[in-house]
Amino acid sequence: MSTIILGIESSCDDTSAAVIKDGLLLSNVIASQAVHAEYGGVVPELASRAHQQNIVPVVSAALQRAGVDKRDLSAIAFTRGPGLLGSLLVGTSFAKGMSLGLRIPIVDVNHLHGHVLSHFIRKEENDEVPEYPFICLLVSGGNSQLILVRNYNDMEILGRTIDDAAGEAFDKCAKVMGLPYPGGPHIDRLAAEGDPKRFHFAKPHIPGLDYSFSGLKTSFLYTIRDAVKAGDPDFIKNNMADLAASLQVTIIDILIDKLDKAVKQTGVKTVAIGGGVSANSGFREAVARYCERHHLKAFIPERVFTTDNAAMVAIAGYYKYLDRQFCCYDSVPFARVGV
Ligand code: KG4
Repeated sequence: MSTIILGIESSCDDTSAAVIKDGLLLSNVIASQAVHAEYGGVVPELASRAHQQNIVPVVSAALQRAGVDKRDLSAIAFTRGPGLLGSLLVGTSFAKGMSLGLRIPIVDVNHLHGHVLSHFIRKEENDEVPEYPFICLLVSGGNSQLILVRNYNDMEILGRTIDDAAGEAFDKCAKVMGLPYPGGPHIDRLAAEGDPKRFHFAKPHIPGLDYSFSGLKTSFLYTIRDAVKAGDPDFIKNNMADLAASLQVTIIDILIDKLDKAVKQTGVKTVAIGGGVSANSGFREAVARYCERHHLKAFIPERVFTTDNAAMVAIAGYYKYLDRQFCCYDSVPFARVGV
């Protein structure tokens, strides 16, 4: 008998549902929320209200596109955290209600595990997946972590940011440049036209495998402040592309530097990246180049699997389901946690 998992993701501002059958992706529907754009960031209360409006049509569309009847589902996997509590509550409550109605189990998924396991989403039987152990560099708006993945349920965080996440560094610097939220994709676009060697921003010197991005942010701000103070009020406007390119290359250098240390320390032969920042063109190229130079196998996710999506929740839930790791109805969402 087939194992069919419905995945539900509602941790931030995307409502998503996906169906995975025997490990193969049948559908992945994502409804983004435009409502936050005018506020320059995600407004939690508006996000949870939009999830409430989206969840029924999104789940229906995912089942329909997969050609799956809800009565054929084996289990429902949902993101339990980390994320915005109100948003998580919508997906969690919906999953519980639907599972009670269908009398099937629920499986709770850690959003970060989902990002790591997104490399196991297969569309065809012979799609390649990473061999264990591998290192996953997880870079998003809220996290920057180097994770040693020994198995789908055995992950060790080797390093994490001690202050800002890589995505935050992109977004905060972009904000200073007057770019809309989230700024990462805008920096990516502008960087393609700019000179990455034009400006030099501070890189952290912290031991071990932890990251830090707050010094870079400060040095970016000071560069702009000093130029404006020196009598160049249009400094940002006239240097958009070069600022973006120099910022991007510095963030990438910081990320790859610790990745290299982790690879050498663990001796792994496979490297994967995940999370929103792994959509960045320069970062994707840099990781591919790094892996080629060091004869490592690189797993770079399709862009749709870099940001919040239910396909990664469904695949993580699929593996837990096979292990009979179900969750109770009294489990509640959590806002913050490591892997
Ligand atoms: O993983 P994600 O959707 O959110 C969290 O769960 O935190 O990542 C969002 C982050 C934002 O900081 C956004 O600016 C960044 O990913 N991002 C990018 C790009 N696309 C998204 N950063 C740089 N270049 C991109 N192309």
